[in-house]
Amino acid sequence: MPHNVKIVEVGPRDGLQNEKTLVTTDVKVELINRLSNAGFVNVEAASFVSPKWVPQMADGADVMARIARRPGTLYSVLAPNMKGFEGAIASDADEVVIFGAASEAFSQKNINCSIAESMTRFEPVAAAARKAGVRLRGSISCSLGCPYQGEVPVRAVVDVVRRMRELGCDEIDIADTIGVGTPGKVQEVMRAAAAEFPIDRLSGHFHDTYGQALSNILASLEVGIGIFHASVAGLGGCPYAKGATGNVATEDVLYMLHGMGLHTGIELDDVVRAGDFISQAIGRSNNSRVGKALLTKWASRSS
Ligand code: HMG
Ligand code: MG
Repeated sequence: MPHNVKIVEVGPRDGLQNEKTLVTTDVKVELINRLSNAGFVNVEAASFVSPKWVPQMADGADVMARIARRPGTLYSVLAPNMKGFEGAIASDADEVVIFGAASEAFSQKNINCSIAESMTRFEPVAAAARKAGVRLRGSISCSLGCPYQGEVPVRAVVDVVRRMRELGCDEIDIADTIGVGTPGKVQEVMRAAAAEFPIDRLSGHFHDTYGQALSNILASLEVGIGIFHASVAGLGGCPYAKGATGNVATEDVLYMLHGMGLHTGIELDDVVRAGDFISQAIGRSNNSRVGKALLTKWASRSS
């Protein structure tokens, strides 16, 4: 089991993208700054996608221009095509994320093209990222199941891992978009992916729709995965996966990892305060069990 675990905080992007009411740029910037100060080495800060498809992410350039960049933190942005890549580079992103899927149906709904077409779109993005010296990450949606097609064969995931490796991805995310995976299946998929790509550069991106995310992280740790995505206060959901809830809450993941003696370099209390800040700012209940428990404990101490 890896002793040092990297957590990629995806709340500002995956967490907020599905909010129907526009969250102000000020609030997004404040959230990212709080997360940077909590010690994350990687924050997914924005998306450069069509504002017609995902209006909430339309202010990505402003967000990136206004955040206070902490040395040692990488700020990642999503870019599905060259237009997105140009936005990413103009905003001085440290890492560009291309996002595909292991399911044809989801690829069509999410990025309006087949898996094969998506790879063709990603090719110039990957080449330009290499030329610009920017890190490239590939994300594979529906690696544990698809809201449209149901079961997704492991070989379909492995096929996309291989293609993303050929594109030169530095890191590849195995994403459970709708949170349907269970530990045994997750280990099977992770082991199969690790046969194609270095295990220390594979990550687990688990939505918690069915309450399996922490178990799936533990199962992934057991097979050697050391990078996980999480969303502060459990914010989120994908606009093209109806009913899918947020990512696993970062606070809950940190509590588990630190309790196991694993090292993340992140200050849990700061993340709890960031979770409280964003939940209040957007008027949502806090979806982190650990966040709620600690906030209640702190409030009872001070009263
Ligand atoms: P399209 O309609 O096929 O693209 O959409 P197009 O190239 O034909 O362009 C159509 C219009 O979009 C044009 O504007 C373009 O300029 C504009 P118009 O002429 O109509 O005014 N456009 C753009 N604008 C800004 N930035 C861009 C861009 N590209 C085109 N980069 C496209 C294809 C991919 C753009 C579209 O389908 C899209 O934006 N999809 C968004 C998908 C998305 O953001 N989904 C959520 C993130 S993925 C996720 O959450 C999953 C993840 O968390 C892992 C997991 O949990 O599974 C990562
Ligand atoms: Mg996601």
